[in-house]
This record gives sequence, structure tokens and C-alpha cells, in this order.
Amino acid sequence: MSNTENPYVPLKARIQKIIQETSSPDLDVKTYRLSFEDGRSLEFMPGQFVEFSVPGIGECPFGFASSPLTKDYFEITIKRTGKVTDKIHTLKEGDFVWIRGPFGNTFPVEKFEGSDLLFVAGGLGLAPLRPFILYALDDTNRKKYGKIDMLLAARTSSDHCFAYEYDEWRAKGASVNLTIDNPEPAWKGLVGFPHNLIKDMEFDFSKLYAFLCGPPIMIKFVQGSLKEMGMPIDRLYTTLEMRMTCGVGKCGKCNIGRQYVCVDGPVFCMAELAEMPTEY
Ligand SMILES: Cc1cc2nc3c(=O)[nH]c(=O)nc-3n(C[C@H](O)[C@H](O)[C@H](O)COP(=O)(O)OP(=O)(O)OC[C@H]3O[C@@H](n4cnc5c(N)ncnc54)[C@H](O)[C@@H]3O)c2cc1C
Ligand code: FES
Repeated sequence: MSNTENPYVPLKARIQKIIQETSSPDLDVKTYRLSFEDGRSLEFMPGQFVEFSVPGIGECPFGFASSPLTKDYFEITIKRTGKVTDKIHTLKEGDFVWIRGPFGNTFPVEKFEGSDLLFVAGGLGLAPLRPFILYALDDTNRKKYGKIDMLLAARTSSDHCFAYEYDEWRAKGASVNLTIDNPEPAWKGLVGFPHNLIKDMEFDFSKLYAFLCGPPIMIKFVQGSLKEMGMPIDRLYTTLEMRMTCGVGKCGKCNIGRQYVCVDGPVFCMAELAEMPTEY
């Protein structure tokens, strides 16, 4: 449910900080740290998204990328890909944008307590998983979860988002494994696709939940490998990016069968998706 009284009315937010996440020419990703001009904080949970608008240009949905436990700002990580995102990438610190939300469902974080967590991300797919990662690694929550493993894939070493945080995540007990598609001279991490590399990782499937986010082809193959290894499909989760307009279940732009991704998603269990028409 939206924080604003009327979910169609956006609130003015100031860009506090811009972080350039990637440096490869093919993938231009920046993180925008935002706070509302009227001082209110945005209450959200991992998995949710906002509608982000630039007046005169347009509005786009973006997932939260920051911790839900941070109250004085929130972050959105944006890839430059077209009309609206090109304009957003020209904005500077101190500029204003307009935000509606939060919208959508959340990762059911309490359901996973007592379990091991595996995060598999491809490129910018790490952004919507980061709120859950930061939530689970926070001192107040870390003991509620078991082992936390990550397999983070990117095309090149310059394309790993949030690389400045990985040491902190490791210090909090997470195993952060990085891979790139092809060898590079100075690269010390893994090389290869996540669906192959995951087969070398060890899991206790009786208490594992996995969260996959990235290109559909990556999700399909990683899901296949995990299933082969013994992972039940009802313990696999992903988040969908359908074309959206209203964000509140009214316009009908984001439906898959009878489900609206903006309200019934964007977080789905793979077992649930297996029952739905393959329109995503
Ligand atoms: C729930 C959700 C969360 C998302 N989270 C992120 C995120 O964290 N970071 C990020 O960079 N992107 C995210 N996206 C995708 C982002 O909304 C699109 O990249 C953006 O709308 C493209 O707008 P554009 O005008 O710059 O590009 P356009 O020139 O309009 O189009 C470029 C590409 O984006 C797709 N697209 C256009 N409009 C939408 C739309 N309204 N919804 C989905 N796809 C669209 C088009 O199919 C096309 O492939 C998310 C989408 C959804 C639905
Ligand atoms: S975006 Fe309008 S119904 Fe989902």
C-alpha cells in the first residue's frame, strides 16, 4: 500500500547522492539516494517498488535497492535504457524527482527465518535483492537466518553493482562469490555462468530458500540446475519486471492471467509461476 494518501499523487524527493555502479560502456547503472522534501520517511519491505517520475518526460517503476531499516533515505538503482532512464541519468545531486509508492508485495522475510538463504543475481538483478540482503545481514536480524550464500554474476568485472559493499557483507558472515562471463587478466573471482558454477556449491536443501533475479535466461538455467541438485521449486523465489503504468491494479497493463504483477507481485514463488500462463 502506498505511503501517500492518494496513490496517484507523487511526492517530491531530492536526490541526495548519485553513485556510479558500473563502468563498462554497455551497462550504465547509477544508484540514486533520495529523501522526501517534506521530511517523511518511506516505509517499505524488500521486494517492493516505486513509480519514479520526471515531469514532462515520464514515469517508470523501479525496485527499492536500499535497506528497509534505513529510515532517512531510500535508494533506487537505475540502468540507462531509454527515454525516461536517459533523462534520469542526466540529473544531478540536489535535483528533484517525483515518487509514488511503495507498491507491490514483499519477500515474506519472516517465513524464511531459521533457514539458509541463497541469492543468485545476474547484473542489475542484484538491486531488488539488496534490500533483503541488507535486512538479513543487519545485526538485529542476522541470527534469525542460517548460512547466507551469494553467487553474483556480471558480464565483466566492471559490471558488478554494489561492489563497494561486498567486504562488509563478508564481514557479517555471508559467502559472496563473484563470477564474470569471460577471463580478464586481473580477475581473481570465478569465471563462467552461474548455472554451471552453482553445481560446485554445497547446500542443505532441507533448509534452503533461494532468490533468483536477473535476465530470464539466467533464471531459467539456474532454476534448472538447482532443481537437478534437489531444490524443491516451492523454495525458489524471483521478482518480475512487467510493463506497468498505474502500479495499483487499475490499468490492467501488467496482468499475467488473472494476476496483476503490480499488486500480486512483483515477488513470486517459482511454484506459483509454474501454474501461471507464460506471458512474462
Ligand atoms: C517492478 C519493477 C521493478 C523494476 N526495477 C528496476 C530497477 O530497479 N532498475 C532498473 O533499471 N529498471 C527497473 N525496472 C525496469 C524499468 O522500469 C524500465 O527499464 C524502464 O521503465 C525503462 O524506461 P525508459 O523510458 O528509459 O525506456 P524505454 O525507452 O521506454 O524502453 C526501454 C526498455 O524498457 C522496457 N520498459 C519500458 N517501460 C517499462 C515499464 N513501465 N515497465 C517495465 N519495463 C518497461 C521496454 O520494454 C524496453 O525494453 C523495473 C520494472 C518493474 C516493473
Ligand atoms: S500497472 Fe496498472 S494494473 Fe498493474
